[in-house]
Amino acid sequence: MAKIVNSWNDWDPLKRVIVGRCDNSMIPPEEPATSEKVPVDSEMRGMWGLRPAKTVERGNECLDNLVKILEDRGVVVDRPTPLQWNQAIGTPDFRNDSMMTCMPPRDILLTVGNEIMASANSFRCRYFEYLAYWPLMKQYFDEDPDFLWTQAPRPRLTDASYKHNYYDEKITLEERLVRTANKDFVTTEVEPMWDAADLMRMGKDIFIQHGLTTNRTAMDWFQRYYPEYRIHAVNFPGDPYPIHIDATFVPLRPGLIINNPHRKLPEEQRAIFEANDWQIVEAAQPAHDEPPALCYSSVWLSMNCLVLDPKTVIVEASEVYQQEQMDKLGMNVIPCDLRDAYPFGGGLHCSTADVYREGECLDYFP
Ligand code: ARG
Repeated sequence: MAKIVNSWNDWDPLKRVIVGRCDNSMIPPEEPATSEKVPVDSEMRGMWGLRPAKTVERGNECLDNLVKILEDRGVVVDRPTPLQWNQAIGTPDFRNDSMMTCMPPRDILLTVGNEIMASANSFRCRYFEYLAYWPLMKQYFDEDPDFLWTQAPRPRLTDASYKHNYYDEKITLEERLVRTANKDFVTTEVEPMWDAADLMRMGKDIFIQHGLTTNRTAMDWFQRYYPEYRIHAVNFPGDPYPIHIDATFVPLRPGLIINNPHRKLPEEQRAIFEANDWQIVEAAQPAHDEPPALCYSSVWLSMNCLVLDPKTVIVEASEVYQQEQMDKLGMNVIPCDLRDAYPFGGGLHCSTADVYREGECLDYFP
């Protein structure tokens, strides 16, 4: 029997990875925590339903292209099994008119060493998304005797999980930024809620973004679940929609992180990096002024790259400034055309979930 699952960070040599699929993707109906998270000027406001078939086809084409790049370099790629996401769902606590997608896997699966844990997402429409990955989890379980297949405590997502009247269409950008700075987010603290993409794994240390998708109770939960790791809360006051850390604060290799210049890590949270001689560099400007149509994310998916090893990184093909910067930082850059997959939930890092990277759990901040 082989070792299939092992990953402690985002930069060790990548050997096996999951790449999402766009099939049957939905724009989910509004629910307590979603309207807060869709930018006010987004053309997606108020609409829901199946995403246009052409865009699904094109998104899948992009992802297949990424798969090819990875396989050509010897990386084993696994794919989820999409469900019929337009089904209505219900639990004893809530009903929702549809699910969403199995993109991006990074939001759902958290790999820490030999464990892959399905997350406790705060979106009701994502409650059953983990099912798309269950066939793979079973396969890893059968093939790797050390694999730990886990599921975080399932949140109930009753109305008590959300602040009501938190959001008002008329709220200005400045007001949103004040809320971010005050760490006033739409989710309450009645139970742990977290998206896996809010966690940044760095061996013994795990940094977790406190924002619209992950709450403080989740951090408390993680510290108890992983007593041997150091859990750090981080937040980025410049981000009016703090969702997922991977277009904000992205490690390229031990000692080097790129940070979104509009979402700087506060001084007091930089100390741990500075004390250990890590360099935090401002990420290059995105090449686009706007995200593609029907996209939840910002133009900063430019920095959402997939590191294959400490010298090699995949960057979106049109993001020329980001490529140039990576090159100057000493990385070999592999361009990959992925922009038309962005509307399905994110860029290169989001679209993937780690299964196996060489290396072990190190202490980078002794
Ligand atoms: N909130 C980020 C932005 O718009 C997008 C992050 C997407 N990441 C993900 N794992 N889905 O800049």
